[in-house]
Amino acid sequence: MKPRILIVDDEKNIRRTLAMILRGAGYAVREAASGEEALSLLAEAPSEVALLDIRLPGQDGIETLKQIRAQHSECGVIMISGHATVSAAVEATRLGAFDFLEKPLSRDRVLIAVRNVFQMTSLGEQVDRYRRDEAQRRVMVGTGPAIEALRGQVAKVAPTMATVLITGESGSGKELVARLIHEQSRRAGGPFIKVNCAAIPEELIETELFGCVRGAYTGADRSRDGKFLLADGGTLFLDEIGDMSLRVQSKVLRALQEKEIERVGDSHVVRIEVRVIAATNKDLQAEVAAGRFREDLFFRLHVVPLEVPPLAARREDIPRLAHHFLELYALENDLPRKSLAPETLALLETRAWPGNIRELQNLIERLAILGEGPTITADDVQRLDPRPPRARAAPGRGTRESRAATDDPTPSEAALTPEELRAAGGLVQARRDFERRCISACLERTGGNISQAAQWLGIERSNLHKKIQAYGLDPRATRATEAPDD
Ligand SMILES: Nc1ncnc2c1ncn2[C@@H]1O[C@H](COP(=O)(O)OP(=O)(O)OP(=O)(O)O)[C@@H](O)[C@H]1O
Ligand SMILES: [Mg+2]
Repeated sequence: MKPRILIVDDEKNIRRTLAMILRGAGYAVREAASGEEALSLLAEAPSEVALLDIRLPGQDGIETLKQIRAQHSECGVIMISGHATVSAAVEATRLGAFDFLEKPLSRDRVLIAVRNVFQMTSLGEQVDRYRRDEAQRRVMVGTGPAIEALRGQVAKVAPTMATVLITGESGSGKELVARLIHEQSRRAGGPFIKVNCAAIPEELIETELFGCVRGAYTGADRSRDGKFLLADGGTLFLDEIGDMSLRVQSKVLRALQEKEIERVGDSHVVRIEVRVIAATNKDLQAEVAAGRFREDLFFRLHVVPLEVPPLAARREDIPRLAHHFLELYALENDLPRKSLAPETLALLETRAWPGNIRELQNLIERLAILGEGPTITADDVQRLDPRPPRARAAPGRGTRESRAATDDPTPSEAALTPEELRAAGGLVQARRDFERRCISACLERTGGNISQAAQWLGIERSNLHKKIQAYGLDPRATRATEAPDD
């Protein structure tokens, strides 16, 4: 994998020059025009080095440096300064910047400074290791409002000791959120221990959680530490907590309240310092109402509830996610990276995703292996996963047969559930998303023919042009087979 560099400068010319120099030297380059943008790019995927201008609009370079040092310590920072800001640059090196470059920039000086960062941190070797690094899997991809909100909540709750309850549909990323909270917490150096409460038989879960002493029950041939103890000083992730029996629930409650545990068959109490994060795809409040979940435990867990939105409520992130998984797959398997045809992305964006991100990930992996040719086409998708778009949203109506028969150009769409609506950012945002999808679907079906799409949509051609611009759609990107009219 190419070593990654982030250029942060508000001057486009400087960014362009630096990008050219660095790309020419074999680095993978990303660009940000502000400190805020730099941080959100780093949250999405790491960079080994950042070139950071001291003078930035909004949050300045020094403040951005502090935040990069605090949140992305793996990223070495080189400051860029003008003559007037040299003293600030010296201050920056005191704050942990590796070096500073004075404007006007010289090509050689830039390359030497960057190479030094790699040498000083032996990042050179690490880059190779990154390839299979779990960290790659742990980035939360997405820039839409739903995921940004979640990212903000994670950042807020992570440094605290608060118990967190993560809810969300299956495959939506609950475990990923739990790991991120741990990694951004002060106990990041401690263990992260996961227990899947649904996968362990009832008679074993107590031992699994609390441990046992030898002879505690038939078959207990040795003493064992439980997961609570293993997580001491770190985080215990209780996955699928909605599936835990009432008896075990009361023991967990006690461990949370008293901060101590007893091994099975032992009356000796052990004090523990564990942060608990729980997750479930069940409606725990309904489980409480049905008498299957202890109310006191529910409130104990519910201190900070985090809801992971379903993929259907953040379709704007689908292209990024698809690219991310494609890259991940190529890296893991040392394969050349395939590309996704624009029409493929449009199709992925309009599908129903009952299995959420995991389903998308699995599909991309299948496409990467089985897709023919270097570009994954919409045909590949249909062949490997034949399914009508939005099948779940319009049961009965959206089947392939009925769609083919009616030739309805707009995507059929049932009302969102209140949860989806909330996750989508409310009615205004949902309406915008819907409009964008309708336009995108029509452009796709007409192969980018704007006149015909406008006719189908029942709006003026000029109006459609404006909307295409406003939504950042590329009509050419959706051209399939037919020639467009303009
Ligand atoms: N925003 C994201 N960016 C990149 N990858 C993601 C994102 N969200 C989830 N994933 C990936 O999708 C897969 C499913 O996520 P995860 O296991 O966290 O879901 P879950 O909600 O715990 O699912 P389940 O309910 O089935 O246990 C994982 O491989 C995870 O790394
Ligand atoms: Mg999970």
